[in-house]
Amino acid sequence: MPATQIDVAIPHQLMDELAAARLRTDELFAIVKSDSLYDRPIAERHRIVFYIGHLEAFDWNLLHDRVLSLKSFHPQFDRLFAFGIDPVGGGLPNDQPSDWPSITAVREYVAAVRNTLDEKLADALFEPNPPSSDGFPLTALLNVAIEHRLMHAETLAYMLHQMPLDRKIVYNEPLELSASPVIHRAIEIPSGTVTQGLTRASGHFGWDNEFESHRISVPAFSIDQYKVTNRQYLEFMEAGGYQTREFWTNGDDEDNDPNRDSDWRWRSERGVSHPAFWKHDQDQWLYRTMFADVALPLDWPVYVSQAEAKAYARWAGKSLPTEAEWQRAAYGTPDGEEREYPWGSESPGGNRDLGNFDFTRWSPVPVNAFPEGQSAFGVHGMLGNGWEWTSTQFAPFPGFEPFPFYRGYSADFFDGKHLVMKGGSARTAVCMLRRTFRNWFQPHYQYIYTGFRCVSR
Ligand SMILES: [Fe+2]
Repeated sequence: MPATQIDVAIPHQLMDELAAARLRTDELFAIVKSDSLYDRPIAERHRIVFYIGHLEAFDWNLLHDRVLSLKSFHPQFDRLFAFGIDPVGGGLPNDQPSDWPSITAVREYVAAVRNTLDEKLADALFEPNPPSSDGFPLTALLNVAIEHRLMHAETLAYMLHQMPLDRKIVYNEPLELSASPVIHRAIEIPSGTVTQGLTRASGHFGWDNEFESHRISVPAFSIDQYKVTNRQYLEFMEAGGYQTREFWTNGDDEDNDPNRDSDWRWRSERGVSHPAFWKHDQDQWLYRTMFADVALPLDWPVYVSQAEAKAYARWAGKSLPTEAEWQRAAYGTPDGEEREYPWGSESPGGNRDLGNFDFTRWSPVPVNAFPEGQSAFGVHGMLGNGWEWTSTQFAPFPGFEPFPFYRGYSADFFDGKHLVMKGGSARTAVCMLRRTFRNWFQPHYQYIYTGFRCVSR
């Protein structure tokens, strides 16, 4: 074998991670029956075919001329597949399947991008001084490409989840419906400080919104030991939760908040009367997993929009935690130290007993299924088994600077209309379980693997 081929074959960790991430997304698209690839399972999102092209166009647009000195071979697709969409409050897309290129042309583009990038990356990564752009080394840009793809591996799962079962190639997933009985209680968290964000000097990879590091004080509060379950949420529904306007009203009576009635308006205009993953059938509630409809698993966490989570919290006489409170409950300790993960310093990659994450399952498990993953304060299930809503608007940390190569990644969402989520779901990759990772969505989006727990102050 010639020397250059031996070099190319050396397993470089980032190239392995990129290959593994591609496998994840390839596996997802393979779930969709071939006659359904131009479907739009969620009205606010593009058709599936867009995402097949998008993952490659993103990598190509990020890397080809910035660090690899490659010329574009299909500028039309580079632009067509460049950006996803997230319309807030109307403005749904109305394109037709015939507006998109053939699946054959898209798959040829995907293959050509991968081959061209891989050939060049293998050389560039082994140069004595690998290329960089705007002060960012090639390795940081590759992390951006890998994590972008893995984030889509999760958001695409949300999308495919909404497809009718007859549009998918169904996998017979074993479900874990119950563990030991769930006994709910609130855990007292004393006042203390939390560290948010990363320092640039650390050299650790993080997205732009994770910088800069700072500490904030958090007054004492109490927090639910477990996420709110389907059983608890059913009680809220049976108590008329969806029909009681006061649970859906933001702010005080005298408050002039323009968003005061936005949740109630959304609930009323959209006719929302139950979580999006639930389905009523012949006097019983069913739960729509990725591959089957099953009797509602009562001990699984409920997945709802932030508006629904807030309505439940008001009904219960409680609140949603702030981002800082959530972090304090997850990473704080009685002696004032902060942990890297809720359970300690062990990487979640090597121990499947710490939580429901990293693609091991498709579905949730009971909220008390992973006692080994509890935090120092005894709060369970903070990483995995569903993201958790906070009441904190997504906003920059002090010292925020957008990535010059992806200026809109976070900044486009600092609009007061998106809320921070922390934690992770069964479909969150292990690299994004780091303490500083922040996720965000608008408060009326129901299709995500996101639940909540309540606090009292
Ligand atoms: Fe994207």
